[in-house]
Amino acid sequence: MDKKTAEHRASQLRQTLHYHNYRYHVLDSPVISDVEYDRMLAELKDIESEFPDLATPDSPTQRVGGQPAEGFERVRHPAAILSLSNAFDPDDVRSWNARIARLDEAVVGAAYVVEPKLDGLTVVLHYEDGIFVRGATRGDGEFGEDITSNLRTIRALPLRIPVEEGGVQPPSRLVVRGEALIFREDFEAMNRRLEASGEKTFVNPRNTASGALRQLDPSLTASRPISLLCYAIVEASSDPPATQWATLELLRALGFPVSEEPVRVEDLEAAIRAARDLEARRDELPYEVDGAVLKIDDLALADRLGVVGKDPRGAIAYKFAAQEVTTLLEDIGVNVGRTGVITPYAMLQPVEVGGVTVRQATLHNFDFIAEKDIRVGDRVLIKRAGDVIPYVIGPMLESRTGREKRYRMPSRCPSCGEQLERVEGEVAVYCVNASCPAQLVRVLEHYAARGSMDIEGLGIKLAEQLVASGLVKDVADVYALNMDSLLSLEGFAEKKAENLLQAIETSKSQSLARLIIALGIRGVGDVAAADLAGHYGSLDRLQQADEDDLMTIGGIGPNLAQAIVDWMAKKRNQSLLLKLKDAGVWPEAEPPRASPASMPFEGKTFVITGTLATFTREEAKAFIESRGGKVTGSVSRRTDYLVLGDSPGSKAERARDLGVPQLDEPGLRRLAESGKDKPVDD
Ligand code: IVH
Repeated sequence: MDKKTAEHRASQLRQTLHYHNYRYHVLDSPVISDVEYDRMLAELKDIESEFPDLATPDSPTQRVGGQPAEGFERVRHPAAILSLSNAFDPDDVRSWNARIARLDEAVVGAAYVVEPKLDGLTVVLHYEDGIFVRGATRGDGEFGEDITSNLRTIRALPLRIPVEEGGVQPPSRLVVRGEALIFREDFEAMNRRLEASGEKTFVNPRNTASGALRQLDPSLTASRPISLLCYAIVEASSDPPATQWATLELLRALGFPVSEEPVRVEDLEAAIRAARDLEARRDELPYEVDGAVLKIDDLALADRLGVVGKDPRGAIAYKFAAQEVTTLLEDIGVNVGRTGVITPYAMLQPVEVGGVTVRQATLHNFDFIAEKDIRVGDRVLIKRAGDVIPYVIGPMLESRTGREKRYRMPSRCPSCGEQLERVEGEVAVYCVNASCPAQLVRVLEHYAARGSMDIEGLGIKLAEQLVASGLVKDVADVYALNMDSLLSLEGFAEKKAENLLQAIETSKSQSLARLIIALGIRGVGDVAAADLAGHYGSLDRLQQADEDDLMTIGGIGPNLAQAIVDWMAKKRNQSLLLKLKDAGVWPEAEPPRASPASMPFEGKTFVITGTLATFTREEAKAFIESRGGKVTGSVSRRTDYLVLGDSPGSKAERARDLGVPQLDEPGLRRLAESGKDKPVDD
């Protein structure tokens, strides 16, 4: 390629990549596949490495992370990056408002914008002629650290403000404030990946984001799924908008990612209601928030009100009830997982967190205990956020009395006594005894779980009983249970046994995808299972597949392929499959999955709420995703459909308010078949 052609192609690729990046990360509505994106990115990288002087600072190739830095430079912010004063209940908010109303009577009758208080790391982003040139942390509000190279790796961050003909033109100099954070879903997916490869998982999204942005090596930052939401203009060369509401709209129009949650209300009481509504929905939001920010919408008025110390008077943070509390760590126990992983957990003095009594919390892994120097008898800080299991953040060192006991990790499996092993390069500690009863209990629990074979009545308690009594030595033994054997167990009367036998019988007709999930092959979740079932149609055929063959299925990479082949190669598993087949548990030939050519949900975003009748949440998600759709956690203006089950939560109300069409399950299936929908009436 000559240089001129290269230059032309590079600029074309950059523009296309910026556009698709924006579709994906800001609009949440991609129109090409990741593979296509990566292919174009690779082409651009090739061109830039052949002609290095063609590389530009706004090139999407910069997102992969450049050279490690020696340290961060201090940069002065163009204007003070202010903080916020706090209110802890509605009366605090009312007193704040009364105070500022005494300073300026325009406060009476003022409108407010209520936004989520995002729990991330504040960043200050500088644009010159629409190009991202510098980004800094908040620091002390006057000086921050220059973390430009790290910020470039964030895919939601516009490296160039897209200029469309007739569209909004960016001011030549623009400084934007936002919060870098990790969405819950991305955080959990990242931890699942790390866990599957035996690596250390992260404790919480906030610290992960802020830690990653402070790495000197930007390629480390690039490996974390950090995102961004913007909410203020710090400075602009042309007149910025007169209101906070217009600021959010302008930021959106310029291509910045902005939360969907903010609302504008006409008076203080409505603002308080909006803040409490946000609090009620906090666990459903796709990211962690620690409060709501109430802002006077009129920015000139807010400015006139001035600041107290570092806190502007024109806004206040309404802090939500703490999800973090301290309590006594009474002891440390260990769990044996399905794959033999041994994980420590905290046995706590019961404590209330966000309306729930917490008695146990995860301690992640043994390295975590050592690194944080957590001792039995410590007061520990624990956190509960959303649906995640409560976790220990660390010990309160200032409360130490000297009587706390250091913890020694066990050397043997607490269940079977097998010597524990540590796999080279992994943090996880394993019990490698394939017939360890504690593992079998977990395997059985997983086999019978709702997203797997869905055997009602077979939960962890019964799994323990069945394993302890010797009735079940592998999951296929479930099908040999009968009235006599069940009645020999404590707590079983005829009715209960009958119900269980019926549920076991019903499980025989579960789909192939479910059975594949139930087998518990490492890394095979609902999406991979649906792919495998659709591709092979039977376990006989799946058993024959080699790695190359498996990898022809989109979404199945070398690690997963290897895990499947390894699982199938094990004698134990082969005889298990034989037993299942003999018991009549051998589902076959599902209807083929939608081919990529017919992706009826392409580009559509769904939210699911309530209990569905024929799908578990995971299945509904897989159903939608396998047809090109996306499932997100909370309803916003960008949601295309709300899938409505029984006893829906506040999402249904919000969908109604935003005019988002609602589908019941038959409606969802019809939509999949015809591409046409008939929303439910309500
Ligand atoms: S406005 C004058 N809005 O909360 C502007 N701050 O305790 C003051 N924060 O470090 C900030 N979400 O970075 C504002 N929607 C939001 C916010 C927000 C999170 C952070 C902010 C600051 C902290 C203040």
